[in-house]
Amino acid sequence: MTDDRESPDPSAPLHSAPENELEDQEGSAPTHDAPEADPAQPVEGKPAAKRKPLLQADRISKYFPVKTGLFGRTRLLRAVDQVSLFVRHGETLGLVGESGCGKSTLGRCLLKLVEPTGGRLKFDDQDITHLSARQMRPLRRRMQIVFQDPFSSLNPRMTVREIVAEALQIHKLASDKQDELRQVNDLLERVGLRRDALERYPHEFSGGQRQRIGIARALAVRPDFIVCDEPISALDVSIQAQIVNLLLDLQQELNLSYLFISHDLKIVEYMSHRVAVMYLGRIVELAPATSLYARRHHPYTRALLSAVPVADPERKRLRILVEGDVPSPLDPPPGCSFHPRCPRAEKGKCDVDVPPLVEREGGSRHRVACWHPHE
Ligand SMILES: Nc1ncnc2c1ncn2[C@@H]1O[C@H](COP(=O)(O)OP(=O)(O)O)[C@@H](O)[C@H]1O
Ligand code: SF4
Ligand SMILES: [Mg+2]
Repeated sequence: MTDDRESPDPSAPLHSAPENELEDQEGSAPTHDAPEADPAQPVEGKPAAKRKPLLQADRISKYFPVKTGLFGRTRLLRAVDQVSLFVRHGETLGLVGESGCGKSTLGRCLLKLVEPTGGRLKFDDQDITHLSARQMRPLRRRMQIVFQDPFSSLNPRMTVREIVAEALQIHKLASDKQDELRQVNDLLERVGLRRDALERYPHEFSGGQRQRIGIARALAVRPDFIVCDEPISALDVSIQAQIVNLLLDLQQELNLSYLFISHDLKIVEYMSHRVAVMYLGRIVELAPATSLYARRHHPYTRALLSAVPVADPERKRLRILVEGDVPSPLDPPPGCSFHPRCPRAEKGKCDVDVPPLVEREGGSRHRVACWHPHE
């Protein structure tokens, strides 16, 4: 179904959400100021009312206590530090950044798979910040995750049928065995697997097919929001486009919201309506995908984009910038944590004051956390 598509072409993103359809509210704005959709403004053919924020995070942090040194002193590792963002119904928010910057931890915090240290979370207008595991149960179904390595998350002793059926059973979504089998068959077809996959085991499949099984399992419970945590990073390049296009098709069909995590900026641009750039636990730039890739105000975003090999001499020069080591989140630099690697850093300012994530131009929805952003 999706196999005959061309590879993602970053110059032609599928999504181009109008930049001003809603007031943005990332940054320091609290989530109770949720933007209301303008019913007169349909977005991409979908009723605007459907495009209200589904998930909202307000200054979410996750600090891990870590024992260090000879005497085992406990220090706090700031994996995620005061992140505010939202994901609308039917929208993909891309999340990019170098390995270890906190992407997976943030994704898990949003699903409450790890308990945030601070901040607030709302899902479908409900404050879920302090819900217990039991209280979360009805919402669990609606919030799913697809992992980078489906193999380690699929039980090797269960058949595909059992893996997908288990998800239906946990949430009592099938009326009887016949209904269960019908649903499993529908799901396999929907993700592009043949019916003879039913009684086979995960090891009998290729990486791309295993990822399809992982997606079928996530879809079985009819979720609204899926964290896709590097879902294609472990796959052959030739297979990546198929999985990406499958996720896009499913989003269209089912009005799914995605947090799409990747370190591959081209794929993120292709997938996302908006993109957040993360560095050492913080969001440093957040903008509609078209605006982010066109303007790149933050020096780190420029450096990160320059890591994609290109002939452009200006970008080549910028590529050097990301070669310095990422500082440890156990000991993040004061002020702007990018300052030791930044060519625009101002002594006495950037190494002292943390730049807030603020809107660049009035109404542009392009937010940057930098004292001296590029124009
Ligand atoms: N359970 C944990 N205990 C301690 N540190 C952790 C834990 N999980 C993640 N970290 C640390 O948090 C930081 C962010 O990790 P992660 O969210 O996995 O980053 P990414 O997904 O961007 O590679 C890293 O320094 C990582 O070592
Ligand atoms: S705040 Fe200063 S150090 Fe940080 S990215 Fe901007 S210019 Fe560079
Ligand atoms: Mg990760």
